Amino acid sequence: MEILITGGAGFIGSHFADYMLRSYPNDRIVCLDKLTYAGNMHNLEGALENKNFTFVCGDIADEGAVEKLFCSHSFGMVINFAAESHVDRSIADAAPFIRTNVAGVQTLLSACVRHNVARFHHISTDEVYGDMPFDDEVTKFGENSPLRPSSPYAASKAAADLLVGAYCRTYGLFATLSRCANNYGGRQFPEKLIPVCISRALNNLPVPVYGSGQNVREWLDVYDHCRAIDLILQKGTAGQVYNVGSGECLSNNALVGDILGILGKSRSLIEYVPDRMGHDRRYCTDSSMLRALGWRPQVTLAQGLARTVRWYVENKRWLECVLSGEYLKNNAHYAATNSIK
Ligand SMILES: NC(=O)c1ccc[n+]([C@@H]2O[C@H](COP(=O)([O-])OP(=O)(O)OC[C@H]3O[C@@H](n4cnc5c(N)ncnc54)[C@H](O)[C@@H]3O)[C@@H](O)[C@H]2O)c1
Repeated sequence: MEILITGGAGFIGSHFADYMLRSYPNDRIVCLDKLTYAGNMHNLEGALENKNFTFVCGDIADEGAVEKLFCSHSFGMVINFAAESHVDRSIADAAPFIRTNVAGVQTLLSACVRHNVARFHHISTDEVYGDMPFDDEVTKFGENSPLRPSSPYAASKAAADLLVGAYCRTYGLFATLSRCANNYGGRQFPEKLIPVCISRALNNLPVPVYGSGQNVREWLDVYDHCRAIDLILQKGTAGQVYNVGSGECLSNNALVGDILGILGKSRSLIEYVPDRMGHDRRYCTDSSMLRALGWRPQVTLAQGLARTVRWYVENKRWLECVLSGEYLKNNAHYAATNSIK
């Protein structure tokens, strides 16, 4: 089967491409990625060595390019990771978020309908539910909880979720949706909390933490996220939303403290900075629907954090390439040679 993975040069998409190439050696994977600042072709170095993997540079919101791509392949599955994904950037400028996360998803959905794609899966986020008060340690967001996104990023993801549901109902597209908690692992762009913390601490630089650091997030290893998507592709019901969470919820203070502990650094590196506007307080999901399909996380946060810290320590070159902007030269080479003609 030919499978389209969009946003595969980013953090989670690149892990999913590796996962699929390993798990389904008879399938062919096509990766469509615009190579924004968040895309990094170094993330796909392993995949590019596999004869079953093809990289195409292009924009999911570019109707003409998407149509050409769908005409030159026969995709049995389309899995959408492509997104603008950083909340702070959405606060500074929401426009790219609406273009990619909403219009781009609509473009992909329409192409799937026109080309009779058998299966579409969309990667969403637990942030679409909004937040809970700090002191509410009981409530968990279920798939039917109301959508109350706080940031422009989360609002754009919620809009896409509604579009996926509408294409399923109106056109009979077999689509599923997963709303995942915060992921961690290697290759995450160092603007997100965990890689920021590791890269700053490695250089004995202050580690910025928003507000008072009380904000609670649920954390999942990226490998467990890939396993969850695979299971939903195999066993999911059309039109169904699946939460994907580990149940391991902890404050940013506790998380950063743990990372500093693993690195043998002092907590005095923590520097509290003015809070993010509209900062969500607490997230926690109920993922029993996915667990009923047979999924359980295999990696605990303690194991996964230690492994993640080790990855950044062992891959200093990757980090340097990103922080210096050198990776953009490699991206430009692929953009010039692999774009949709
Ligand atoms: N990282 C997390 O903790 C997390 C948690 C839950 C859900 N998600 C969702 O998972 C998905 C992947 O997240 P990530 O952390 O890997 O993001 P990322 O920012 O690391 O990667 C996004 C990728 O999408 C590509 N892209 C952006 N705009 C594009 C466009 N118009 N056309 C084609 N490609 C485009 C980028 O070049 C990049 O390679 C996103 O949809 C995000 O909302 C992420």
